[in-house]
Amino acid sequence: MQTRRAFAGSIALGVGAISAGARCRDIGITSGATLAALAARTGRLYGCAATTGELGNAEFVSLVKREAGILVAEYEMKRHALQPQPDTYNFASADTLLRFANDDGMAFRGHTLVWHKANPSWLPNMLQSSRREAAPIGYIQTVVGRYRRRIHSWDVLNEALAPGDGRRDNLRETIWLKAFGPSYIAAAFHAARDADPHALLVYNDWGCEAGAAWNDRFRAATLDFLERAKAHNIPIDAYGMQGHLQAFGTPVDQRKLRDFLDRLKAIGLRILVTEHDVDDGGGSSDEAVRDRAVADTSRRYLDVVLDNTATTGVLTWGLSDRFVDPPGLKAELAWYSPRILPYDSLFMRKPMWFAMADSFLRARPVLNAGLIPDKPPPVKPSSVPERLNSPTTF
Ligand code: XIL
Repeated sequence: MQTRRAFAGSIALGVGAISAGARCRDIGITSGATLAALAARTGRLYGCAATTGELGNAEFVSLVKREAGILVAEYEMKRHALQPQPDTYNFASADTLLRFANDDGMAFRGHTLVWHKANPSWLPNMLQSSRREAAPIGYIQTVVGRYRRRIHSWDVLNEALAPGDGRRDNLRETIWLKAFGPSYIAAAFHAARDADPHALLVYNDWGCEAGAAWNDRFRAATLDFLERAKAHNIPIDAYGMQGHLQAFGTPVDQRKLRDFLDRLKAIGLRILVTEHDVDDGGGSSDEAVRDRAVADTSRRYLDVVLDNTATTGVLTWGLSDRFVDPPGLKAELAWYSPRILPYDSLFMRKPMWFAMADSFLRARPVLNAGLIPDKPPPVKPSSVPERLNSPTTF
């Protein structure tokens, strides 16, 4: 799969050929180069979030097939989509996306199993009932088990930290924490490992990218959390750094980011950028100015991220500005269209694409380029409910 993608760079692109060609020459690549192929040069994956709606656009489909080596569902694998009723699952859209990826030789990420958002409205009631343990564990067994061996990595836990919310362990006060205490975290990761020992298990979060004081606290809390998780033998393989940046907000502090990523590597974690995009709001209304700022922001970030040999992949949260998310936002932003992704709404490469290409070109090769690290033996399934109710502190 990697090899096929690596050679995709020889396919002619055909969009934005004239100016794009000159810009490609500037950074020493051919205009047929793709982000997947450039990432593969150093043993990494590049890919993006997608939706079944976008797959209805033939131009987008060929673009995504060309550029991406890995896909993730933007929302169709969230719990409200997969389990509309306690006893009814709907895997149709997730299956469509996964089949699309697999048919084209792309890897696929699962996003996300345990989160405080995007849950079905009946979930809080279940957490009060005698079936409460099934709420996290049964769900993980069903979903992860269904896609066993077909998922590159699962975001088992999303955004579980909220430094500054008053808890010493920095855990966010979610329905999960309220129902089970911190024990839900170990239980979720062990259940995921049992259900698919082949998938990389990821803790996914935000808040650690930029250079503000609150980002310092978020980085410290994240490191503390992951170090303690490792000490408790919780099977976390990778840290997923969402990578939602702001072109006109607090910039990335490269030194702080480098130190943070070095620490993650030192505790044995892989690093994935899972949801990269660059918000271009709040600054200029001039498109060229915004495009430049978005590209510079992305480069400043990825240069550091890709210098770390534990970083194994980068995904953007979409590929083209054509599909604005959420749709209602467009009316509010009537005076301009967001330009936050590598391709514009006409499927032309933007300066962000070239910045990313350039960062991939200068990246350091991944350490032990195998995508999935060795796993400890899985825990016995029967131990999972016990873990769920054990008074684990964090
Ligand atoms: C967003 C999606 O883009 C939307 O389509 C959805 O309605 C809400 O969630 N962090 C995450 C992602 O982990 O799942 C979020 O995605 C963006 C923030």
